[in-house]
Amino acid sequence: MRIFSAIRPTGEIHIGNYLGSIKEWLFLQDKNECYFCIADLHAITTPYNPKTLRKNILSLASTYLALGIDSLFIQSEVKEHTELAWLINTIVPVSLLQRMTQFKDKSKEHKEYINAGLLNYPVLMAADILLYKSEKVPVGQDQKQHIEFTRDIALKFNKQFGETFVLPEILVSKNQAKIMSLKDPTKKMSKTGDPKACIFLKDKEEEIIKKIMGAKTDTEKIIKFDAEHKKGISNLLSIYSAFSDKAIALIEKEYKDKSYAEFKKDLGELLVLKLRDFKKKYNEYLNHPDYVLDVLDKGKKRAQEKASLTIKEVRKKMGLD
Ligand code: AMP
Ligand code: TRP
Repeated sequence: MRIFSAIRPTGEIHIGNYLGSIKEWLFLQDKNECYFCIADLHAITTPYNPKTLRKNILSLASTYLALGIDSLFIQSEVKEHTELAWLINTIVPVSLLQRMTQFKDKSKEHKEYINAGLLNYPVLMAADILLYKSEKVPVGQDQKQHIEFTRDIALKFNKQFGETFVLPEILVSKNQAKIMSLKDPTKKMSKTGDPKACIFLKDKEEEIIKKIMGAKTDTEKIIKFDAEHKKGISNLLSIYSAFSDKAIALIEKEYKDKSYAEFKKDLGELLVLKLRDFKKKYNEYLNHPDYVLDVLDKGKKRAQEKASLTIKEVRKKMGLD
């Protein structure tokens, strides 16, 4: 199966990104033809700092590598992404773009920064996916509308210019965890929220312990999974289970007579241990930028080979060649 996914190089990767998305890519990578991309061209559609963008890109690449993802490349280095985005722009109704949820949300969030790139964000995303004739796209539910948009545009193109694109499907795994904020477990853990409510992969050991000890729970004092009434402790149980690969029922049993404080202390230590290995590898990659650049260069060449074939086909179908 051919698989494509991407993450924007904005902000730090947290355990929600890891458990909800990247961990799944690791399984997929072994058995499929995967293209994992650093979406720098998407990152510049919201306010950003040009002085730190390149650093963020290399840091994200080092993060991926430290987690074991190596079929990796940078979006802007494969020019076919922008070329295909322009070509398919010409068949996309503007009204459809104006109705997209993410465009509406981000326009509200950054009122002073509603640029044409933000409106056309889904077109570039469709180009990313269609360029590789990807069959599955592993992303979170928040990206569902963008994948449906991609299918609609692929279908329209095929009707207008002849059978060209594969219709991609979203891939949401059954065991994909949704990690909630440590301070408000009704909300998703997010890089842009309260940093005390979010555990970043690169957090210092004492920070991790402090954040877990300060996580919101309830007054009942029973360690039991109940996503409806005990959102805080349920979230911590999910994190424990994902990092230890133990079933939640087993963890509940082990902590039957223990206090929230004891459970939190153990969870903090588990995270420290698991993330220690990641941080060691991450720092090694960061200190060897030549190696990281070499991986990215190989990734670029591999992606380009596939992408250039699709562009040739599209140009011909559209009458440009
Ligand atoms: P973002 O941080 O919004 O750029 O998302 C990158 C990827 O991580 C997407 O596939 C999201 O669906 C996923 N993701 C982000 N936050 C969480 C979370 N709290 N729990 C699970 N998955 C998440
Ligand atoms: N928009 C995605 C996000 O915010 C990132 C992304 C860019 C992407 N291009 C993609 C995801 C193509 C999947 C496929 O998470």
